[in-house]
Amino acid sequence: MHSVDPTTEQMIRSVLAYAENRLRLDPVPLDGCHRDPAEFDALLNGLPGEEPHNPDQVLGAYASVLAPGVISADSPRFLGFIPAAPTKAALLFDMLVSCASIQGISWLEASGAIHAENLVLRLIADRAGLPDPAGGCFVSGGSAGNLSALMVAREVAKRRAGAQGRRLRAVVSADAHSSIASTLRILEMGALTVTTGDHRLTGAALRAAIEADGDPSSLATVVATAGTTNAGIIDDLAGAAEVARDYGLWFHVDGAYGGAGLFAPSVRRAYDGIEHADSFVLDPHKWLFAPFDCAALLYRDPALARSVHRQDASYLDVIHDEPADWNPTDYAYHLTRRARGLPLWFSLSVHGAKAYGEAIEAAIRLASEAAAEIGGRSYLELIREPDLGIVLFRRRGWTAPQYADWADRLLADQVAFLPPSAWEGETVARFAFLHPHTSMDLVRQILDRME
Ligand SMILES: Cc1ncc(COP(=O)(O)O)c(C=O)c1O
Repeated sequence: MHSVDPTTEQMIRSVLAYAENRLRLDPVPLDGCHRDPAEFDALLNGLPGEEPHNPDQVLGAYASVLAPGVISADSPRFLGFIPAAPTKAALLFDMLVSCASIQGISWLEASGAIHAENLVLRLIADRAGLPDPAGGCFVSGGSAGNLSALMVAREVAKRRAGAQGRRLRAVVSADAHSSIASTLRILEMGALTVTTGDHRLTGAALRAAIEADGDPSSLATVVATAGTTNAGIIDDLAGAAEVARDYGLWFHVDGAYGGAGLFAPSVRRAYDGIEHADSFVLDPHKWLFAPFDCAALLYRDPALARSVHRQDASYLDVIHDEPADWNPTDYAYHLTRRARGLPLWFSLSVHGAKAYGEAIEAAIRLASEAAAEIGGRSYLELIREPDLGIVLFRRRGWTAPQYADWADRLLADQVAFLPPSAWEGETVARFAFLHPHTSMDLVRQILDRME
């Protein structure tokens, strides 16, 4: 299994050929055929088992049974949830990272890889205007980033006089991502939830909520979102930062989806205030065109994060011998980690950050054109002007089953993947544009099918 024998040679040829073909797909088809587990099992015919199988046979089973059972998130027709659109360069380098078995825990083990990751983190920090000492690490996703950041926020608050043994709380918007609620549950924190009429958290609404609260001293952090998942709304970050500062609260910005807009000049001003973040999450596997899984987690003061996340054990002492060494393990809840920032480093180096800005602008432009198209069709109604690449709209007169039926048929006909969402309790349609090759022609086709 570990030597280069004829079977290995055969696998190198056939698996790389398969990967090459996948890389050359342009555009990537949608796919996505659903089977139940028993059908998959029957088709896989006992794989894996106790005895070996010919690798080409196993690869064939993957190609014919398993791969079609996946909706390609990197297809320009994937317009649901938050899509993906990894660059070919990033995908290629991801293969190299896998083959290199890089143990991205510590400077001792992987200084070269970690240095490259840190250059990318610095580039993101610069876009956000975070000061020089800012830093962090790459984690698996926005959820892991939010959890790790709020662990630090809670710990910092616990160190305040009189906070010991108290149940701390976070001030969050009703539109914050579901991972924030999940994080608060894990951390046994409460929430002071702020609701606003237009779903955008503002400094004024935050201040009013805190002033009306009976127990402001139990608050640990303000969580703002730079690009809400459902509607792409960028909260009033400057206002939220000011309130956080006035009350001595940790300021966390969840930019897992929308943080990439920092690279797009047309919307950059909407992020003003992000430079005050104590922690900031941005998922390159969403809108910075990196492969899964890759989330950038940055702290204004990494030493605070280290004081919370550093794991100590006799077998780990050696990685902490040199205090100046940057160990990604010290900045999040993880130990072993893939050097998942490297594919982004490679792709950014090959293409340049300007190309990233242009590709992000393409989705923002498409969202605005789609909104105008919706506005021009009497049977449709735009719910709100898009801030970024997400467009929410309704088909006048439709009920939930009609949206579901429309979405099912779009997928069955391989036109698009566009599951309905909800807005203020009502089922609605939602475009999530991210792939720079999604076209207005496709948008029109989809809208025509609602007539
Ligand atoms: C704003 C926001 N935060 C957090 C997340 C969670 O990110 P992940 O799915 O990478 O854990 C998402 C995912 O869509 C998101 O949009």
